[in-house]
Amino acid sequence: MSLNAQVYFDNNASTKICDSALAEFTELSQNVYANTESSHLLGQWARVHFKKYQEELQNKFQCSGRFIWTSGATESLNQLFSSLISESDRRLILPSIEHAGSLMTAFELYKKKCKVKLLPVDSQGQFSLEDLKAALAESPSLLSMSYGHNVTGGLPDITALKKIIGSQDVLIHGDASQCLRSGLKLNLEQFDFVTLSSHKSYGPKGIGALWVRDPRFNLRPLLFGGGQQENFRSGSVPLPLIGACVKAWGFCLENSKNHKAHLEALKLNLLEYFASSSEFEVITPERSMSHTLLVKCLKQVSQVDLSQKLRGFALSRGSACSDQQKMRMKDNQFENFINDCLVVKDPKFNLSVLNFESSQAQFRISFGFENTMTEVESFIEALKEL
Ligand SMILES: Cc1ncc(COP(=O)(O)O)c(C=O)c1O
Repeated sequence: MSLNAQVYFDNNASTKICDSALAEFTELSQNVYANTESSHLLGQWARVHFKKYQEELQNKFQCSGRFIWTSGATESLNQLFSSLISESDRRLILPSIEHAGSLMTAFELYKKKCKVKLLPVDSQGQFSLEDLKAALAESPSLLSMSYGHNVTGGLPDITALKKIIGSQDVLIHGDASQCLRSGLKLNLEQFDFVTLSSHKSYGPKGIGALWVRDPRFNLRPLLFGGGQQENFRSGSVPLPLIGACVKAWGFCLENSKNHKAHLEALKLNLLEYFASSSEFEVITPERSMSHTLLVKCLKQVSQVDLSQKLRGFALSRGSACSDQQKMRMKDNQFENFINDCLVVKDPKFNLSVLNFESSQAQFRISFGFENTMTEVESFIEALKEL
């Protein structure tokens, strides 16, 4: 099979760059290439662009605050957690099936004796408000969660969470890495911090941001060096990546209605098929992003056989984190971390939603705006042949 013949249904792992982002990247790389810190005219010109992008983002998201540019969501998560948790008495609360960028950072902080609380999740990957209440018994805290889970697609109800939190000293962080592509109207201001990734939303790889609602917030740098970005993140400013990323997020925001309707139609078609078949179970909860579906096979088929039979489609079993990562998640220390930090010790709880232990085959379908109904129809035909 040629590479081009495979249908790409793995957009949660990474997306193809969109035309406007690629054009911006080329334009800046060729014409605005000076260092933003240089004092000469060309440096000043680069600096003008840098400031313009910060304002453009604030306009697009209709928010105040500050965007700190990072190498991607993983770095944003590391900077936020390390800065906030290791330096204060704040405890970190997060669902137990967060992306490795969160969970492994929490694990490292736990090893350094920082206080971490993990929320157990049900078979659809959702945590309960009761468990959150229990986790909040001691504050201050940082509550961090995916706003759009990368494997299940699930979306937490922020209004309900805020009711539980009330007036307690709890900062809220949303990892919205997967959210923009779904066409969801992302209101940054409902969080204190938001993590964003470029390459999940038609931008280039190697760039992302941490949005901070209150610019006076004393966030510590993760990287030390030349003091760029007002010392929040040292390292020469990658202007072409930033410009391309701003265009990509703009593309998502400006087309959100169309993209949402299109993605929902694709998902609905699949959901109708799964509802009519006794051979699959949809794990993705109802409250979820329009582009993601996690499905379990009820029929006895191994993961290897499933992949082989569906080889015409680029799918994923779950998160795209590395095999080495999965090995680490299986080691004793990690297990102790989970057992020690779970708010409620639930003997039924395991990480089966992420399929690290389950013997049943499962697959995640994640769409982008270029996927078509014809591709979905051919996928359904392939499922019927399983
Ligand atoms: C929810 C979530 N957070 C963080 C990341 C890490 O993103 P990046 O590749 O930008 O570091 C991902 C990537 O899959 C993700 O889905």
